[in-house]
Amino acid sequence: MSRLETRLTKLLDIEHPVLLAPMGNNSGGAMASAVTEAGGLGIVGGGAGNREQLETELGRAGNSRVGVGFITWAIADKPEIVSVALERQPVAVFLSFGDHTPYVDEIKRAGVLLICQVQTVEQAITAIGSGADIIIAQGQEAGGHGMTARGTISLVPAIVDRAGEVPVVAAGGIADGRGLAAALMLGASGVLMGTRFCAAEEALWQPDMKARIVEANGDETIRSSVFDMVRGPEWPAPYDGRAVSIDAVERWHGNELALRENLEVERAAYAEADKRGDMGTKVVWAGEGVDLIHEVQPAGDIVAQTVSEAIAMLTDEKTYSLV
Ligand SMILES: Cc1cc2nc3c(=O)[nH]c(=O)nc-3n(C[C@H](O)[C@H](O)[C@H](O)COP(=O)(O)O)c2cc1C
Repeated sequence: MSRLETRLTKLLDIEHPVLLAPMGNNSGGAMASAVTEAGGLGIVGGGAGNREQLETELGRAGNSRVGVGFITWAIADKPEIVSVALERQPVAVFLSFGDHTPYVDEIKRAGVLLICQVQTVEQAITAIGSGADIIIAQGQEAGGHGMTARGTISLVPAIVDRAGEVPVVAAGGIADGRGLAAALMLGASGVLMGTRFCAAEEALWQPDMKARIVEANGDETIRSSVFDMVRGPEWPAPYDGRAVSIDAVERWHGNELALRENLEVERAAYAEADKRGDMGTKVVWAGEGVDLIHEVQPAGDIVAQTVSEAIAMLTDEKTYSLV
């Protein structure tokens, strides 16, 4: 099979420009290892920095070369979790959602690459200025947490234009080879996918959540802070999250001040319905690319399929002719 070599594949010493998003409670060691063994880079989701969970999942990654990701604002009260990750000599530490600067020196001293996920051009410039080795440009189509800010198709080239030699990776709404081919055309050096890997066999999510990803479409997703308000914990501004819409979002999105007045009742109702496994209530984080996911597959197959589809798109003249 041909390969797509980019600045990203060379820097990370990987075969394919496909990264697994560090999804907390979902991108465990087994999935990260499967993505790496398939030629991409698996990144274990360290989430808010639960040490026991992190050590377990890094153990499950075995000897595979993987990265580790954290939710930056959520580890502010336990910065030592970064040292715990660095002891394992990961390929990279991936920081999203908050001020990464307190961690830069330690990561660099350990000889580990720093990946910063950003949502605006200004954040990208700051991250590059403070030493980020790779920038993830996350558009608001993305599943899970992010910002109501920019769409992937304009954010990626805008950051590429300001990034110099630093590889830029596109994230948000990319779920197949068409997205990878498009990202490369925008000047990205690769893609980071989360939602597509939610339907991987190795993902930590329960089967009913994976089934919801397979059946949902992008029209059903919405970016809202109501998900975190009813489920808890709440995230600091400006972060919100995209998931398949639920009853509480239908009732309260756009009316968050009134929700705050009723929060206790809504939280109790959410907790109750969650216990029953009610999928009309449960938060299933998903990006707009969820339409493109049709089955639960091994993570390695997702990497191989995405790359072969992209190569076909880039070399086949079926979609256009040069005349
Ligand atoms: C279920 C889920 C959980 C996520 N958790 C995290 C996380 O813990 N840390 C993080 O940096 N990003 C997280 N993200 C966002 C991803 O890093 C990435 O930006 C996003 O998945 C890309 O868009 P896509 O879902 O359309 O592929 C999560 C995304 C999903 C879908």
